[in-house]
Amino acid sequence: MCFMPKKQYFCIMISSFGTQLEQWYETFGRDLPWRRTSDPYLIMLSEFILQQTQIVQGMSYYLRFAERFPTAESLAEASEEEVLKLWQGLGYYSRARHLHAAAKKIAEAGHFPKDYSFVRALPGVGDYTAAAIMSFAFEEPYAVLDGNVQRVLARHFGIKEPVDTTQGKKLLRALADEMLDRQHPALYNQAIMDFGALQCKPASPFCETCPLAETCEALKKHLVDKLPMKSKKTAIRDRYLTYIYTRTEDGKVLLHRRGSGDIWQGLFEFPMIESVNKLTSKQVDEFIHSSLVKVSGNVKVELVAQNILHQLTHQRLHADFYSLTIPNAIENKKGQWVEENSLDRYALPRLLEKLLEKIK
Ligand code: ADE
Repeated sequence: MCFMPKKQYFCIMISSFGTQLEQWYETFGRDLPWRRTSDPYLIMLSEFILQQTQIVQGMSYYLRFAERFPTAESLAEASEEEVLKLWQGLGYYSRARHLHAAAKKIAEAGHFPKDYSFVRALPGVGDYTAAAIMSFAFEEPYAVLDGNVQRVLARHFGIKEPVDTTQGKKLLRALADEMLDRQHPALYNQAIMDFGALQCKPASPFCETCPLAETCEALKKHLVDKLPMKSKKTAIRDRYLTYIYTRTEDGKVLLHRRGSGDIWQGLFEFPMIESVNKLTSKQVDEFIHSSLVKVSGNVKVELVAQNILHQLTHQRLHADFYSLTIPNAIENKKGQWVEENSLDRYALPRLLEKLLEKIK
């Protein structure tokens, strides 16, 4: 039996996909700092950070960045080193570099233009980020299509086309554009993203309490755990990295800055050997004596940690970590000696931060 007044029941039945999402969002949507502003620069900042991390961790980075660099101009004027340092822990430093470059373009323009072509052409800004900025900051009718939105749409409309094919992408793009609430693009985009993150989750979604259950194709056809489909698995490359934390007895550490063309470009690290397999302690010893310190005698080598796994999107890093103590700093062309107690001033990859915790 239905106790709802007839009129209200009727309204719920005819309310559209978008309206139902928006109603859900009014109750369950998250109150997040970047949703309280319509400043396009701050919205862009939040989106760069959220590409990298979950909301909880992203929040503290966003607040720190927004405090230190409240405007595109202030970020544009900062040194790359400072930007990377503040980004430390988020990984994929090329994104931080892009953010910095984007701020410079905005500063050059004199203001943040309400112009899709300008926004889409900013370094590091793809279709998703451009749509997020245009809708959240300017209320322009651009539909966001990230992983959460793909999932909601593929499930609700029973799309079996793999989402990583040209055909699948086209289909979802058309559907995303079609479903967008063009009167309230910011509200709708935020609603569908949160709905994907919180209700229509990848694993164990809450179908029993879902306001869209009645019209969900995936639920009707028992395809919830199959959609969205993917055609291929991403190839993962294994890399073996052996770090030698090289320090002197009076507390100096050898550090060098990574060059371009690989992960962690521009970040600092300890002397490292990359190999196709894990190195034996004997091989590490040979490297230390033949290349690193080239002195025999009073050196102390210790294995601190091994087989540390660090997963990136397309790479699985296997790291071993040795510590080498020598009496005095010796000349090293590639590196620089820095005070061990000032290491936290240098932007290090997250993997090395993890390894340093083991040394402490
Ligand atoms: N993930 C990426 N952008 C987001 C946003 N604006 N709100 C919540 N989660 C997000």
